[in-house]
Amino acid sequence: MTSSLLPDWASQCLCSPIVTPYRTANPEKPMKLGVLASGSGSNFEAIAQAIAQQHLEAQVAVLVYNNPQAKAAVRSQQHNIPAQLLNHRDYASREALDQAIVDVLRQYDVELVVMAGWMRVVTPVLLEAFPRRVLNIHPSLLPSFKGIRAVEQAIAAQVKITGCTAHWVVPEVDSGEILVQAAVPVLPEDTTETLHARIQVQEHRVIVAAINRAIAQIRGSL
Ligand code: GAR
Repeated sequence: MTSSLLPDWASQCLCSPIVTPYRTANPEKPMKLGVLASGSGSNFEAIAQAIAQQHLEAQVAVLVYNNPQAKAAVRSQQHNIPAQLLNHRDYASREALDQAIVDVLRQYDVELVVMAGWMRVVTPVLLEAFPRRVLNIHPSLLPSFKGIRAVEQAIAAQVKITGCTAHWVVPEVDSGEILVQAAVPVLPEDTTETLHARIQVQEHRVIVAAINRAIAQIRGSL
């Protein structure tokens, strides 16, 4: 069950700014998250703030980042969250990187993995270690515009509506079951930057709603 007043279908489709986040009403101890991030970490920040504001019954056990310049690492310090750099350039293959990620996530007893701006394709090494426990946020309304430069793809296609999607991760890129989506209009004057900025506002709500939904699924209440 959810504490939202909305029916279940509406909680998965955040179209209005007044929709409250999808919340679990579960007295169990907070679920341990492992967050993977490559860049600015604004989604990581949204997760950390949602936890601080008790919109999310979870704890970020560890941040893993692959880019030494990732601002996400600075944010983790501000939140007192352990962070581990695993630079993909130090690994001979995607599988080797993913094995190192799994080792860190195990070290921190992670129960749910969140790819929050993780710009690496993941392999079965990670997915089989955490079956149906890895979710991703992507800046388009999947199944449209999979892969890299999703916002540019949307502008090039001249769509009038795009958005963002949180989904379970499967080996095929950006193809897993959808957890939560939000729509964002494309304005005639939009550049990749202006459109991406508005999509990110929605991502920060969607990722929190999706984690709550994932936790509810894992705990068997959905
Ligand atoms: C987000 O817009 C996210 O959707 C995108 O990277 C950005 C990371 O922003 N992810 C992908 O494109 C994955 N295919 P952030 O570092 O500020 O959270």
